[in-house]
Parts: sequence; structure tokens; C-alpha cells
Amino acid sequence: MTTVDAFWLLHPFLAVVLVYPLLGMVLRLAQQTRNRRLHEVKHPPTVGRDHADLGKWLAGGVVGIVLIALVVVIATKNTLQEFTGGPPRLALLLLALIGTTLAFVALWRARKPIYRAAFAFICWAGVIALGVQPEVFRLGDNPLEPAFWQSHFWGGAGLTGLMLFSVASRPEIHRHLHWRRWHIAMNCLAAVIFMAQGWTGPRDLLEIPLSWQKPTIFSCDFEARTCPAPAPAP
Ligand code: HEM
Ligand code: HEM
Repeated sequence: MTTVDAFWLLHPFLAVVLVYPLLGMVLRLAQQTRNRRLHEVKHPPTVGRDHADLGKWLAGGVVGIVLIALVVVIATKNTLQEFTGGPPRLALLLLALIGTTLAFVALWRARKPIYRAAFAFICWAGVIALGVQPEVFRLGDNPLEPAFWQSHFWGGAGLTGLMLFSVASRPEIHRHLHWRRWHIAMNCLAAVIFMAQGWTGPRDLLEIPLSWQKPTIFSCDFEARTCPAPAPAP
């Protein structure tokens, strides 16, 4: 395996060993938090705090693996000399990456509602801005077409938004019942998208060839699902 292929595996690797195990813990603690509150089941009083603390790490994990995937996809598409837009565009993208990361760090520490909302929004906007670059493959960009709903990128973008919103609204979820209800509804959707990502991710992994196979595989017609006849054996 070449170094480039190893970089491409970094994102799936971290999703499997870091994000999905965390999701399991967050879901279990969510169920315990709810049971403790509604049915007075005897769980330790810390389950709510543990759920929210691990939830924050889950959100961080999602933002982290999404940024890693985007950096790898954009950085490995062309060589530095062939980079579309040259150094000015590269500098702009680097700035967007740094800004997105800093916005997440600021969200982690912010207290005032206006700052939490602003940093969550900036971080999400940064992820989308990097994701809509021409180097990033997206199955479809039109929500009216089925391809959009099967897209690994748009699933990831939606999930990132939902995770950031949960982190930003943590104090409100604690304080108000209607925020808690919103939190549950939105994160049931998030749980479904996590499952969908677990399908579309391995699907993409199956479809993306190894770097040295790309010239041959990409000469295939993906619409007609046919490939040129192989050259005769020497
Ligand atoms: C798939 C992800 C998630 C699901 C399914 C989920 C679900 C839930 C559920 C069912 C509850 C209990 C509500 C109740 O008492 O009726 C809860 C509480 C809460 N969640 Fe989440 N959640 C998720 C992620 C997150 C994240 C990322 C955060 C961000 C920090 C978060 C913060 C909170 C907070 C602060 C509470 C209140 C805890 C308490 O009562 O002490 N959750 N969540
Ligand atoms: C929390 C779950 C996940 C999220 C939020 C997520 C999100 C993303 C995003 C936003 C991209 C960049 C756009 C693109 O190239 O399509 C991407 C790329 C990719 N994802 Fe995921 N993904 C998740 C889980 C997975 C899993 C479980 C796998 C496979 C086991 C996977 C495999 C891939 C592959 C192969 C790519 C192409 C780029 C690369 O490998 O760096 N993803 N993902």
C-alpha cells in the first residue's frame, strides 16, 4: 500500500475505532438519563453529565474525522504544481481549515449563548465551504434527486450540523423541557444518519480504487457500468 492510500484510510479508521464506539456509549447514557428522570430507575446521578461530556467528545470526533477526510481528498487530488488556483487558493483553503478548527475550540470553551451559536455556525459553515470544493466527490448536490440523499458527504455535513447544535445548546437542554424534547427529536435523526454513514462509507471504500489502480479504473464508464477491454497479455 502506498502512503497516499494509507492517508485515505485514516478517516475510516478513526470512524471505526473512535467515533462509533463513542456513539454506543453516548446512546446508552442517553437512555439511562431518560429512564432516571422519567421512570426513576436507579442509575447514578452522573449519567446525565457523563452523556453530555461524552457527547461533546463525540461531536469533536465527528468534526475531526470530517476535516481529516476533506484535507486528504483535497490535498491528494493533484500535485502541488498542478493545484487548481495555485498558492492563493491553497492559502485560502488553509485559512478556512484553521478558522473551522479554531471555531470548534472556541465553541468548546464559550459560555454566552450568542458566542456558542456563532462559533457552532462558523464551524459548520467552514466544513461545508471545504466540502463544496471541486476536488471533493459528492454523489449529488440537488436535494430533489435521490443521489443527494445517498451522498456520504451530505450525510456527514448534516450530522456535523446536528452535533454542533447539541454542543452549542447544552445549557439550554439542561434548563428547559422543550429544548430537551428538541434535542431528543434531532438526535434520533442524528442516530439514523450515523447508521446511514456506516453504510455509505464502506460503499465508497469499496468503490474507490487504490492509487496505482486509478488510471485504469477511471477509464471505465460509471453510468453504463462498462470498462475498456484489457490489453492483451504480453
Ligand atoms: C446521537 C446522539 C445523541 C442522542 C441520541 C441523545 C439523546 C439524549 C436523550 C434521550 C437525553 C435524555 C433526555 C431526557 O431526559 O428526556 C439526552 C440528554 C442530554 N443530552 Fe443528548 N443525545 C445525543 C448527543 C448529545 C450531544 C452531542 C450533546 C452535547 C453536549 C448532548 C447533550 C445532552 C444534555 C446536556 C442532556 C441533558 C442531560 C441531563 O439531564 O443531565 N447530547 N440526550
Ligand atoms: C461518523 C460517521 C462518518 C462521517 C460523519 C463521515 C463523513 C465523511 C465526509 C464529510 C467525507 C468527505 C467527503 C467525501 O469524500 O465523500 C468522508 C469521506 C470518506 N468516508 Fe466517511 N464519514 C463517516 C464514516 C465513515 C465510515 C464508517 C467509513 C468506512 C468504513 C467511511 C469512509 C469514507 C471514505 C472512504 C471517504 C473518502 C475519503 C477518505 O477516505 O479520506 N466514512 N466521510
